[in-house]
Amino acid sequence: MKLFGDTANLVEIRTLMEAGFVRGITTNPSLLAKEPKADFHVHVGQIIDVLRDYEDIHLSVEVFSRNPEEILRQADGFRKSFHYEHLSVKVQMGWNELPVIRKLAQEGFSVNCTACMTVNQAMLAAGAGARFISFFWGRIRDVTKTEHAAERLLAQTQGILDSCDHEPAWVVRAAHHILQTYNPYPEIIIGSIRQVTDIRDAAMAGADIITVPFKFFAQMASHFKTDEVVAQFLGDFSHWMQ
Ligand code: E4P
Repeated sequence: MKLFGDTANLVEIRTLMEAGFVRGITTNPSLLAKEPKADFHVHVGQIIDVLRDYEDIHLSVEVFSRNPEEILRQADGFRKSFHYEHLSVKVQMGWNELPVIRKLAQEGFSVNCTACMTVNQAMLAAGAGARFISFFWGRIRDVTKTEHAAERLLAQTQGILDSCDHEPAWVVRAAHHILQTYNPYPEIIIGSIRQVTDIRDAAMAGADIITVPFKFFAQMASHFKTDEVVAQFLGDFSHWMQ
């Protein structure tokens, strides 16, 4: 099990690399759009400059088109302009994207098939040659919200989804079980982490990698009883030393 950072922020990335517990970085167009306006290739190049100071750090960079030819062109551009051996091209799941994933995999790209919500999507992505399958934990759970009631019921009526498909732990457990029959095994990345307990739950469900927004790492490290006992140790020792 590996932890990645889900961020495009250079300061956050440097902080995570220095802390040493993160083995990769994932970005997406929305994360990049949170950064000060810049040229896309220049900004990703700066991320790579940071990552090159450390060993074997994965980077996933997402295409920003739904047009198959344009996705291929962008992936080729990533390869030519970034020259980073640990780069994975993130391509969204979709019917028109599957042949693109196939072509990129055949051309030697590492493909991270992103925005996956179901086991069925994972099987398609793995069959097409994706090296990583990114499931969106929080968004899978969001399907149970009232605002999605109509879409959920329609998909259930059509036999496309049932209640298991809205439970991220079930989805990841099932995907982990099934993907083990693929050679090579595509690693499961869990994104869309909404709270710290999601990280533990995703790890228990069989995630190979969990990509975590920066703000949650400090929360992972903290517990009020840890603070209490450390304060007690220091207090007891300082009285004894007087
Ligand atoms: C992961 O690869 C995605 O970039 C990300 O986690 C999506 O998260 P969100 O659902 O919070 O947008």
